[in-house]
Amino acid sequence: MEYCVTTKNNDSWYIGTNDFDLFKADKTEAIMFQGNGYLGIRATAEERNLNERRDMFVAGTFDAFNDEVTELPNLPDLLNMEIVINQRAFSLSTGLIENYHKHLNLKNGELVRSFDWLIDGNRISFKFSRFVSMSDVHLFVSKLEITSDQSDLSIKLNSGIDGQYSNSGTQHLVEGDKRLFDGKILQMQEKTQQTNIGFAFNVTQKAYIDEVLLKVKPNIRMDRRQIFDEYNVDLTKGEKFTFVKYANVYTTIDNDVGHDTISDISMDAIKRSSLLNYDELLNKSTNAWNINVWQRSLISIDSDDVKPQVAINFARYQLAANTPKDSRMNIGAKGLTGEGYKGHTFWDTEIYMLPYFTFTMPEMARNLLKYRYLGLDGARKKAKANGYWGAQFPWESAWSTDGEMTPPWGSVDIVTGKPMRILSGSLEQHITSDVVIAVMQYLSITKDERFAEEMGYEIILDAAKFWASRLEWDPARKKFVIDNVIGPDEYKEHIDNSAFTNYTAFWCIQKAIAVVGLLRNSNPEIYNELNLRLKLDDAYQDWISKVDLIFLPKPNEFDVIPEDDTYLQKKIIETTQYQSDGGHAKIFKDYNLQQINDLQVTKQADVLLLVFLFEDLFSDDIKLANWNYYEPKTTHDSSLSFSTHSILASDLNLADKAYDYFERACEVDLGTGVGKSAQGLHMASIGGIWNMIVEGFGGIRVLDGQLRIEPHLPSKWNSLHFEINWHGSLLKIDVYKDTFQVSVLGDAITFINHNEIYHVAANSKIEIPISIEVNVED
Ligand code: BGC
Repeated sequence: MEYCVTTKNNDSWYIGTNDFDLFKADKTEAIMFQGNGYLGIRATAEERNLNERRDMFVAGTFDAFNDEVTELPNLPDLLNMEIVINQRAFSLSTGLIENYHKHLNLKNGELVRSFDWLIDGNRISFKFSRFVSMSDVHLFVSKLEITSDQSDLSIKLNSGIDGQYSNSGTQHLVEGDKRLFDGKILQMQEKTQQTNIGFAFNVTQKAYIDEVLLKVKPNIRMDRRQIFDEYNVDLTKGEKFTFVKYANVYTTIDNDVGHDTISDISMDAIKRSSLLNYDELLNKSTNAWNINVWQRSLISIDSDDVKPQVAINFARYQLAANTPKDSRMNIGAKGLTGEGYKGHTFWDTEIYMLPYFTFTMPEMARNLLKYRYLGLDGARKKAKANGYWGAQFPWESAWSTDGEMTPPWGSVDIVTGKPMRILSGSLEQHITSDVVIAVMQYLSITKDERFAEEMGYEIILDAAKFWASRLEWDPARKKFVIDNVIGPDEYKEHIDNSAFTNYTAFWCIQKAIAVVGLLRNSNPEIYNELNLRLKLDDAYQDWISKVDLIFLPKPNEFDVIPEDDTYLQKKIIETTQYQSDGGHAKIFKDYNLQQINDLQVTKQADVLLLVFLFEDLFSDDIKLANWNYYEPKTTHDSSLSFSTHSILASDLNLADKAYDYFERACEVDLGTGVGKSAQGLHMASIGGIWNMIVEGFGGIRVLDGQLRIEPHLPSKWNSLHFEINWHGSLLKIDVYKDTFQVSVLGDAITFINHNEIYHVAANSKIEIPISIEVNVED
């Protein structure tokens, strides 16, 4: 396993670099991203550099340009500091740089960059520190310290708000007022072009020599979309110059403040923040990280190699830094870490990120699921527009109620030279099942009846209505089929009877039938209310008449489940040369999508995802046969692929494969692949890091509402320790080479291990030997 970042003194909480590499900059900026789920800022340097992507986003502030789909606007830069020392503009590309260190402390999100700048015979020491606050989501604080033991310095520093940034050329923001208040607060207001979301940005700054605050008159420079304050300071040799920049952002869609007065509210807030110093504000933020994140979901790995622990610390950090707490918005496929995928949300959340939140922070999971509930009207409109009933969830979504946001056109086809049509928005329909999978998992793990009654049941029922209306009768098969879709394997378009789609549609309808049964018996009041709105009596009849006639692709004579009706008849090619690191689709150098459609080449886990998620429907022999068939045909051109492969390999006792895929998943962002992550981190793959450790190596699974624990500790690890919530109790699970222990904090629980049922009394512990299974690795 090789990472593009290093730790500091082998401490798994620090990631960074000890040299400035221009060509890695756009990647490491994403990896050392800072955020709090509301505000996100890439780890770009304060001064400008080549190859940088200076992005800052606020979750949910989507805007459209012309008739394009909405995207998160790139906001004015609050980082900037233009520094001139002794008439020399400071830049990493002039003079010499020594002792360079840039590290992100994952524990509290503080980024520190320090180095010596050797210029004109002087050695000048710089230290930049900054954090996006976890205790006050609007706040961003940075600090610069400059010293030289060799000579006096005349420092000119320009710092403020720079709105001359865009989304790769598209300017979403209309410039509003720019003002200086009280001689010390710089404010810029802007609003989005089409969605009319207002922003207020404030900056107030303090300069010190040797801790003594300088009383300087404002020296304001205003330009188009820019407002800066200039500081001119003479520093005597040996003295320290310290500069602290307090910045904040408020928007008219914030749900924690009154909407029309963000100019005043944000200004009062920045005044209050600037009463405290950098360390005091950082301490508050550090406490919030501890309480909100680290104390919630302990996970530690005892291994001689620090990298797995770095990976899981990084994953939990990024999941916290990129997840909004406001249920009107969700996690983007790239979080807030870059422009990629326009900030849009995919099934990535439900299948790859929600297990972490549901098991460790159920209230966050509830918010993320509420987003889908708020999206029901949009989903109903989509179903109706396509001639179906119920709710058809959008493949890509942005603001919860805005519906389908998949762009119609993608990159250029290498054969025709024309842009390729993106069909996922209309054909990738399994998203509707994925939402139900996540809702059911949440309900099984939390037993949150209130969520079920207020939101969950409605999602399940409306999804089933969609699927039932989507089915088509095939007279030849005498079955209901689902034609013309895209499954998880996006290399196959317009396919009939995608195994993943059909099985999950069948399962959704089964769940809805069960929900109706349950409500009719035990909660008639809720049933009547839902029946009135959703016409459940009729829907139920429809489901009952169709469910057992749904065509479910069966394993063939070799136990292989056909990915779709025609996959197994397509040409087989050697795919080793096309196997990717989860990002660079090498196969497109030789084939276009139409050609790949005719090959047995799979982009990412598809049938293998099915047999993992619905493992109780398939025997171990079938799982293994499908692994043997599909794994060599999968190029992993989506980073979502690795974690599923690792977990399934753990289940199948393919220990080496499981660990290999684990390492490859960790390397998606942390690895050395140049250019990867520049557009933003791969949040689903990051969620997958937790899944691989807890569901794969830890062997945690929810099967038909029951908890199963069957650990598979990697041979390179001495032990693994993690915590999960189950039915309101906290379970601490310690996995060793030969045994594992389950300690319960709270009410008694029950779990299954190798078909045996174990009961653990309230607040007690159980130890179970790990049975050695036959390793079927070839
Ligand atoms: C994958 C999808 C995924 C999307 C966003 C695509 O490349 O094939 O499954 O949802 O990326 O991460």
